[in-house]
Parts: sequence; C-alpha cells; structure tokens
Amino acid sequence: MTDARSEVPGVPLGALPDRQALLELATSEIAAAWESFDLPRPRESVIDDMLATRLTEPLPEEPGDPQEAMRDATTVLDASTSPARPLYLAYIGSTGLATGTLGAALAATYDVNMATHAAAADFLDGQALRWTAEFIGYPHADGAFTSGGQISNLTALVAARERALPGAREHGLAGRPGAVYCSREAHQSILRAAEIAGLGSASVRRLPIGADRRLVPDAVAEAIAADRAAGITPIAVIANGGTTLTGTVDPIADVADVCEGEDVWLHVDGAYGLPAATTPSGAPLFRGVERADSVSLDAHKWLGVPKACSVVLVRDVSSLDIAFGHRESYMLHSDGSHNPVDRTLEYSRPFRSLKLWLAFRIHGAAAFRTWIERTIGHARLFARLADEAPDLELLVRPQLSTVCFRHVDDRISDIDTHNVRLARMIQDDGRVFLAPADLDGRACLRVCFVNFRTTADEVAFAVDVVRELGAHAAAG
Ligand SMILES: Cc1ncc(COP(=O)(O)O)c(C=O)c1O
Repeated sequence: MTDARSEVPGVPLGALPDRQALLELATSEIAAAWESFDLPRPRESVIDDMLATRLTEPLPEEPGDPQEAMRDATTVLDASTSPARPLYLAYIGSTGLATGTLGAALAATYDVNMATHAAAADFLDGQALRWTAEFIGYPHADGAFTSGGQISNLTALVAARERALPGAREHGLAGRPGAVYCSREAHQSILRAAEIAGLGSASVRRLPIGADRRLVPDAVAEAIAADRAAGITPIAVIANGGTTLTGTVDPIADVADVCEGEDVWLHVDGAYGLPAATTPSGAPLFRGVERADSVSLDAHKWLGVPKACSVVLVRDVSSLDIAFGHRESYMLHSDGSHNPVDRTLEYSRPFRSLKLWLAFRIHGAAAFRTWIERTIGHARLFARLADEAPDLELLVRPQLSTVCFRHVDDRISDIDTHNVRLARMIQDDGRVFLAPADLDGRACLRVCFVNFRTTADEVAFAVDVVRELGAHAAAG
C-alpha cells in the first residue's frame, strides 16, 4: 500500500513507498530480535566492512532505499550491546520487555505530548502512577513519569529545596546554604541534582557507611545537628533503596525516624531496588518506605520496560506545584487546575507510562513479583557458587540482586590488575557481559540480575565462564 500523501507534490516526507511492507519488515525484525534474546548467544555479532563504510558516509541529499536502510539499522542494533540478552549482567540493565516495546512503539506512533493535557492519555497516566504506587506499597499516588532516575531524583530534590528554603527557585539560595545527606554509596545523580538545584555538590554530606554498607541513622542526625549549628539548612536525606554498586538498602524506617524528628524531607532513591519491596525477600528491607516524602523508581531497570521510564512519587503533590508551577500566556490554567508541566522539569515529553501500564495490564503484578524474587534468588545462587569456588572471593553478601566478587589465584600478586584485565577478557569473549567495579579501593567484578530471561543454569554458566577465563588469565 502506498502512503496517500505520496501523491501530494512538495511533500516528500509523506512519500513513504510501501509503508505496509516496511511495517512488516520492522515486525519481523523485532520478532527475530525477541527470539534471539530468549537464549544466550555464544558471542556478539559484529558489522561487516561495507556497513562500517556506509556508517561514515555524509548526509544523503536524495532518498535512499527504505528496505536497505531498515536492514542497516537492525544489523547495527544486532551488533550493539543489548541488556535484553540473558547473560548481560553488567551495570543495571533493562530487559526490553516485549509488552513494553509494544507500548513504546504505540506511544511513539501517536506521539502524544504529555506536557499538557492529552485527553484520554491523562487518565491512563494517572492509573499507571496509582498502579506503580500500589505495587511498591507507597501510599501516595501522585508524582510524574520522568526520563530516568537522574531526573526523578532531581525533581524530588528541587521540591525538597523549595520546602526547606522557600523562594529559592526565584531568588536562588540568596546566602542561605543548604545541605543534603546520604551515604557515600549514593548514586552520582544525587551530586548532580545538588549541583543543578544550585546547592552545589559540596553541600552533599556523603556519610560513612556501617559494616553492613548501610547509612548510619545516628550519623545522619549528627550531621544535621552540626549543619544547623553552623547556620546551614538541611534540605533532604536521601536513603538508598538499593545502591548501584552493591544493591544495599539503607535502614529506611530508622532514617525516617531521624527525618521526622528533624522535620527534614526524606527521599528514597529506589531507581534500581524499589521493585524488590514487593517481594518476600525484599519487603523487610524496605520497611518504612511509606513514610518517605518522595521515592524514585526506574521502570526501565527492574521492571524491564524499554528506556526511558522512571517514576517519582511524592507524599504531597503541592510540593511539586510549588517547585515547578508557572503561568505563561501559551500555557493557561483554563479551569484553574494545574498543567502537567507545572509538576516536573520537562516540557515536551512522550507518553512514557503507556509501556508500563501495558506491561502491568498484560502480565499482572504477580508475574513481576515472581520475576523479581527469582532474580534475587539468582544473586544468592551466584554468591553461594562464588563461596564454594576456591578461586572466587565474594566481597559483599547480596541484599538484592547484585554480586561483587573477584577472581583470585596464588600465581597472581596484583589481584586488582588481574580482575580489571579479566573483566575485559570476559567482555571480549562475549559469552557473558559483566563490568569491573571498584569496591573500597579493590578492583572487583560485578554482576546484577534483573532480567526475567536469565535461568539458574545460566547463572551457574556465568560462574564457570569467569573461572575458566580467570584461570586462563592467571596462567598467561
Ligand atoms: C540508585 C540509582 N539512582 C539513580 C540512577 C540514575 O538513573 P538513570 O540512569 O535512569 O538516570 C541509577 C542508575 O543506575 C541508580 O542505580
């Protein structure tokens, strides 16, 4: 079928030859990708020299062959590192959940702009917020979908800043220094948020952690007292709902006690870990999360939907209106109610919640809980196998689904260099994708299980691959 507008002279962008054939090609390529994600592949594919050359060509002036362009696009994607693969264990992946992909494709097709009221999409967006809050057991279903943990954390911090230092959005800090409290393991996005919020990264008190790697509530109380004595206003305490490095969850209820006593905003950065609050293993760790002033959660991490889909939820939605509300002649408050742009940083923004909504609607919450619990089990299995292996050293017992460990060998004197080199060898080998990390000044290997596809056998396989290549590196 030909696009009807192809007949319109002077509208070349409408002239998409055989739109249906392209759609079918895209569909079959997506189906092939999904199939290829089901099982690990022995090694990653690479692009050939001809495609590499085409990727250096200048901007085309004339139309190209659509089928060829689509094939180049999918070949490039197939040769790119995808966290959807079952043995992608680096960083905190997402999994390209198929229902999420369909939601993303549909949302992109209609290209609804959630900056302003968007009719029916508003109702679905609201339901997706409510479902997310209900899923994690947070009693306040107000907030916004954002592009990621960075923006969710920043959104919460700006709201906290405006509460602690009213008028800061208009006048800046105006000689009123503020401080933010978190463990030294908090994600870098907290520092960046403090920078962007005008507080400065030096205002972030990155407090020492206990032997269990968790924030020490007494240390938070002491730091707040010291700052108050120095005339510095406490803005917010950020509790980790799963650190990036080790998956550690701070003692949220105890930190909430401190925050309530001091009347300081509590934000839980659950970008990675908050979905675990829904599981039998994770729930005890998240006790007290319902008392937070705000929480963030990345659905594009442990809920598997394609990037970008994050959620920031707040106890008091007026805090967002106060921090972000505005009136412009092109953005009227017609019936006295807020516009979506009055509650977040972004103006034009996609219909992000659709993919999560579709995934919840099709799979149901129970399937997510089962998946998350299973991946926590994978981390425990990996840790047990590392414990049992004489050539692996477990560095931190996992609380959630992340394991930090390293390869050891009597023949190696510099274990740090050996493990950094080993991480590279493992990546080059291609059967397993993991990343090196630095744990208290020691080089380690880090795996994170968030993918519903990964099986227990594949966890054991990953351990075997690390040991095989580790022995090879030690010998060579
Ligand atoms: C704990 C934590 N917070 C925030 C972020 C930032 O999230 P995003 O990359 O979605 O902006 C991450 C990313 O890994 C994270 O692990």
